[in-house]
Amino acid sequence: MSADFYKTKISNCHVIAGNEIFTEIAGYFDNYSLNRTDIVILLDENTKKYCLDILKEKTDLFEHAKIIDINSGEANKTLDTASYIWDKLSDMAADRHTLMVNLGGGVICDLGAFVASVYKRGLKFINIPTTLMSQVDAGFGGKSAIDFNGIKNLLGLFSDPVFVFVYPPFLNSLNTRDFYSGFAEIIKYSVISDVIQPDDLINFDIHNKVYLNKLIFKSIGFKSSIVNLDLRENGLRKILNFGHTIGHAMESFSLINDKNYLTHGEAIAIGIICETYLSVKKSGFPESFMHLIASVILQYFPKYSIKPADFIQLLGFMKHDKKNLAGKIKFVLMKAPGIAVFDQDCNKEEIAEALNYYAGL
Ligand SMILES: NC(=O)c1ccc[n+]([C@@H]2O[C@H](COP(=O)([O-])OP(=O)(O)OC[C@H]3O[C@@H](n4cnc5c(N)ncnc54)[C@H](O)[C@@H]3O)[C@@H](O)[C@H]2O)c1
Ligand SMILES: [Zn+2]
Repeated sequence: MSADFYKTKISNCHVIAGNEIFTEIAGYFDNYSLNRTDIVILLDENTKKYCLDILKEKTDLFEHAKIIDINSGEANKTLDTASYIWDKLSDMAADRHTLMVNLGGGVICDLGAFVASVYKRGLKFINIPTTLMSQVDAGFGGKSAIDFNGIKNLLGLFSDPVFVFVYPPFLNSLNTRDFYSGFAEIIKYSVISDVIQPDDLINFDIHNKVYLNKLIFKSIGFKSSIVNLDLRENGLRKILNFGHTIGHAMESFSLINDKNYLTHGEAIAIGIICETYLSVKKSGFPESFMHLIASVILQYFPKYSIKPADFIQLLGFMKHDKKNLAGKIKFVLMKAPGIAVFDQDCNKEEIAEALNYYAGL
């Protein structure tokens, strides 16, 4: 695999990744007759500061783009922010010819895709993911979402960008905490596939750019292959939610209870440990791999304190998980790296045991 360029397609959406992508962008605009004169870029204060100028330097396509600027962070992935953006689009007289460009991390990509898909029954949009999290996961795959009533991703729809442009050098300005957040999804890929190997985790190094590009390309390749087989998550795609039943509950819990709330990846890292534990207990996942995963996670992610008194609230959040059936919390568990069992019931006691395992590490 070249370290410079990677290209794939998810449904009709092209995903183009690498340090040389900007030579290709204009061609894609032409092939798909995208509007060059009516472009709106959605960004937050960090991507305005660190990414907008790079984007404009690399191509003149965005020279005259209008900007919609929102505050960064998961706490803003809400209906209020969506309303604010719809107001702005309406003030700008955006119409179905307008092209929306989501320049940012997973929050901008999730929220921007949602806003664009609903406005006037759908604007064309492209995602330009700028965090590791969004370059390996959130920026492509066709899911859009906002949080609602404190529940993660409660409102959303499947809706594809026309293109996704992944430019790894955007990551140069990312802080370490947000970098590691994206690493959590790469750790997830190591459990659910053989594309990411234990060596990839042990050697993870945010300064080794060639190696990092390869990890990004492998992650895009793996997620794309799964999504293409199950675009609307009727079966196989659920594997990508490994770690997210407990992880999303942790994230929602922290958003409500902590001023400095967990990042998505930090919450998912906890979910991965707990759901690997459940996989060992219930599906025969190798214990040695669980120990490896737990030790890698403890090396990169701060330990989060959870007490038995918090379990009820966490279980309450798990009841909102989109994979649940007939009111039962359903998990994706693993038999072995890469081999999943779907729709597994775990009762309160088992979930509490998994949370206790994490708490006791
Ligand atoms: N749709 C999906 O398939 C999917 C998959 C995984 C995660 N997600 C969602 O993604 C979100 C998390 O994404 P995230 O981790 O990217 O968080 P984020 O979007 O909040 O970005 C993290 C921080 O990095 C800043 N930032 C972004 N790019 C930067 C850059 N190049 N340099 C400096 N700072 C930069 C942002 O402003 C923010 O402060 C969650 O809401 C999660 O639910 C969605
Ligand atoms: Zn995730």
